[in-house]
This record gives sequence, C-alpha cells and structure tokens, in this order.
Amino acid sequence: MRRKLFVGNWKMNGSLVANGVLLKGVRAGAQEARGELAVCVPACYLAQCSQILSMSGIALGAQDVSSHTVGAYTGEVSARMLQDFGCRYVIIGHSERREYHGETDEEVAQKAQRALAAGLTPIICVGETLAEREASLTWDVINRQIKALLSLLEPAEVEGLVVAYEPVWAVGTGKNATPEIAQEVHVAIRALLAQKSAEAGKRVRILYGGSMRPENALDLLQMPDIDGGLIGGASLKADDFLAIAKAVL
Ligand code: 13P
Repeated sequence: MRRKLFVGNWKMNGSLVANGVLLKGVRAGAQEARGELAVCVPACYLAQCSQILSMSGIALGAQDVSSHTVGAYTGEVSARMLQDFGCRYVIIGHSERREYHGETDEEVAQKAQRALAAGLTPIICVGETLAEREASLTWDVINRQIKALLSLLEPAEVEGLVVAYEPVWAVGTGKNATPEIAQEVHVAIRALLAQKSAEAGKRVRILYGGSMRPENALDLLQMPDIDGGLIGGASLKADDFLAIAKAVL
C-alpha cells in the first residue's frame, strides 16, 4: 500500500513573515492529513522553514537542484547543501524549469542522480503541453521523459523516486485533468517504471499536479494510481492545502 503524499510547491512566492503564518497554519492541522505532508520552498527560505518545521512531521523540500556536485557553478545549489538544511525532497524537471530554463530530459536525469546520491527523494515532473495533447503526443512525451531517467538510473535508484504527472495545460490554469485522464497517464508511467524494476512499478508514488483544489481533490485521489498531489496555488493557503490532504476517504 503506497502512503499518500501531498507536496506544496510554493514556486517563487513567500516572505519571512508570510512563510511563518502559512507554516503555522499547516502545522496546526497536519495531524488530520491522510498522508504525508511536504512543502517545497524557495532555497533562500530553507533555513527558516527547516526551523519552523522541526519536530512537526512535515517534510521540507526544495524546488530544484544542481546537476553538478560541487565547485565553480555560480548561482547553483547542490544536493548536499539541500541535505544540509534537512531537505527530504526536491522537485526536479518542473515544466516551468523545462520551459523557462531549457532543462532537458538528460539534465533532469542527472539532477535526479545527484539528489539520490545525497539521500534526497527526487520528485520528477513529467507532462505534455496542450499542443502535444492535441496532437496526440501525450504518450510520446511521457515515454521520452521517463525513458531518459531510466537509461541513467539503476533499478534501485528508480525505486527511490517520486514522479509527478503535471499536464502543462493544467498548471496554474484552473483547468485540472479529469480523474480518468490522470489515471490513464499514471498507469502508463507505472508500466514504464516497472520495465526497469518490478518493485519500482509497485512502490513509486505517482502524484498528480495541475490546478488541484479542495473541490476536485477527492475525485482525483480516488483513482487507484493517484498517490497524492503536487500542489501549487492551493498550497499557499493553509486551509486549502490541508483540505486537499484530508480529501481521502
Ligand atoms: P497549480 O496547482 O497552481 O496549478 O500548480 C501546479 C504545479 O505546478 C505544482 O508543481
């Protein structure tokens, strides 16, 4: 049985004051969550959030990591540094990074390898754009994105991943994938993972992301292969984030 996981992706939002208020709210209701909670915060706030979350049972994560280990890479943050601040998770290959920073499938795989080597759990984002879906290219895109990972990682490493299906057309648009569409893609992702490791096929949690809200969470989470959510906008309000994390029967 895979334990549900609810991850807030704060993106480039927050301030010292706002983070304190938000995390206090999340902490207050965390006991009622029907799964594990995590927040992926901007790197500059890791120290603050790590302190606020200590002993809370809420995991800390980052939103990106360098594909390099250490050295002359101005502006980069290494996996070892994230680990130093108590991160358990790191989001890798979010569509906003792929689109605005030109991240390739190969770089995403390298970043995943670095994160795993430092003891972090990568949350690998995959998903098609609207144009790709309309051109019936969803499978090709998912296949390409997942295969790049599988070709670099060992079976045991694949077992240590979390995958998030985030159709780009649903991210920040208020238009979520239907539970049926999401379930279909999650099953396909699981089958690809299982080709590398049967254990990974069973164990890896596949989250849904893209306009997940308290109103649509229950329907999505009822699907057998949706193991939680990667939540953007709604994770910036403690009540909404918690309502999603409680929306499991
Ligand atoms: P929204 O929940 O705001 O659509 O964002 C989803 C997302 O990109 C999470 O990583």
